[in-house]
Amino acid sequence: MSSDFRRACVSGGAGFIGSHLVRALLARGLEVVVLDDLSVGRAENVPAGARLVRGDVLDADAARDAASGCDVVFHLAARVAIRSSFEFAVKDARVNFVGTASMLRAAHAAGGVRRFVGTSSMAVYADAPSPDPIPETHPTAPISPYGISKLGAEQLVHTLGGQAGFSTAVLRLFNTYGTGQALSPYVGVVTIFANALLRGEAPSIFGDGEQRRDFVHVEDVVRAFLGALDAPVAGETFNVGTGVATSVNEVFAAVRAALGSTIEARPAPAVTGEVRYSIADIGKARRLLGYRPMRRFADSIGEVVAEIRAADQPS
Ligand SMILES: NC(=O)c1ccc[n+]([C@@H]2O[C@H](COP(=O)([O-])OP(=O)(O)OC[C@H]3O[C@@H](n4cnc5c(N)ncnc54)[C@H](O)[C@@H]3O)[C@@H](O)[C@H]2O)c1
Repeated sequence: MSSDFRRACVSGGAGFIGSHLVRALLARGLEVVVLDDLSVGRAENVPAGARLVRGDVLDADAARDAASGCDVVFHLAARVAIRSSFEFAVKDARVNFVGTASMLRAAHAAGGVRRFVGTSSMAVYADAPSPDPIPETHPTAPISPYGISKLGAEQLVHTLGGQAGFSTAVLRLFNTYGTGQALSPYVGVVTIFANALLRGEAPSIFGDGEQRRDFVHVEDVVRAFLGALDAPVAGETFNVGTGVATSVNEVFAAVRAALGSTIEARPAPAVTGEVRYSIADIGKARRLLGYRPMRRFADSIGEVVAEIRAADQPS
C-alpha cells in the first residue's frame, strides 16, 4: 500500500456508496469525517468511528469544518436520481455542480488536502451504438440534467482542484448495486423490481427491456476508490464498472428467480433521459488503479434480494 493519507473527508458518507467507503477507510486505519445533510442518507448509516458533520456541501463553513485536518477528500454528496433530475433541475444543478465547487473551495481553505476524488457517472456519456464496452474517450453528451451536472462537476474537480494543487481523480461509476441500497429513496432497478414483486405487483419494464447496463457491486466500487487513494495519479478520470452487459430483462428474471415469484413484468413506454447501452471499458482503471472487480452480478443478486426481503418483513 503506497498511500500515506491519514484523515479522509467523505461527503455523502451517510448514503449508500459513501457508507461502504467510510467502513473500508476506517478498516485501513484512516480517520474519517463524514459531511452529509442527511437529506437521503441516515446518521445510523455512518459507521461507528467516523465523525459526522451534519451539513450541506453548499454551506462553506460546514464543508470547511469537515475538510479541516484531512489530507484526502472523497466527494460523493449529490442528488442522484436521473429521472427526477428533469423536474428538480435547479436543485440538482445547485447540489451537484455548485456543491462540487463549494467542496473544492472548502478543501482548499482547509489547508491540508492533497488529493481530491470526485464521483461521476456513466450518465455523462453519449448513447453507445452497441453494447460494446466504452472507454473514457467515448464522447460525452449527457441526455439528462443529472448527467450534465456530473460532467460539469468532473471538469470543476480537475480544473479547480488542479489549480489548488490537489492530485485529482474522478470515478465514473456505472450502475452500482449492493446491500444498503434499499435504504436510499433513489434505488436501482434491482430494488425496484424486488419491492414490486414482494408487494405482489407487476413492475414496469420501460421500452423492450433489452437496454443493457453494467452492474457493479458496491464492494468493487469501494475497491476503485481505494485504488484512487493509493495510485500516483493526477487529473485522471476512470470508468468503474465490470465490462459485463446485463439487460433489464435479465435483471428482472434474476430477481424473480431469487424471490421465487411468477409475476410477469408490465411493458411501459421507453423513458426520456435514459440511454440504451451503458457498459464500461475498465482497462484504464485496471492499468492505473490496479482495479480488479471481484463480484459477479449473477452470484451477488441473492444477497441483495434477501436484504430487501428482510427489510420488507414487518418487525
Ligand atoms: N448508485 C449508483 O448507481 C451511482 C452511479 C453513478 C454515480 N453515482 C454517484 O455516487 C455518489 C453516491 O451515490 P449513492 O448511490 O450512494 O446515493 P445516496 O443518495 O445514497 O448518497 C448521496 C448522499 O449525499 C447526501 N447529500 C445529498 N445532497 C447533499 C448536500 N447538499 N449536502 C450534503 N450531503 C448531501 C445524501 O444525504 C446521501 O447520503 C453520488 O455522487 C452519485 O451521483 C451513483
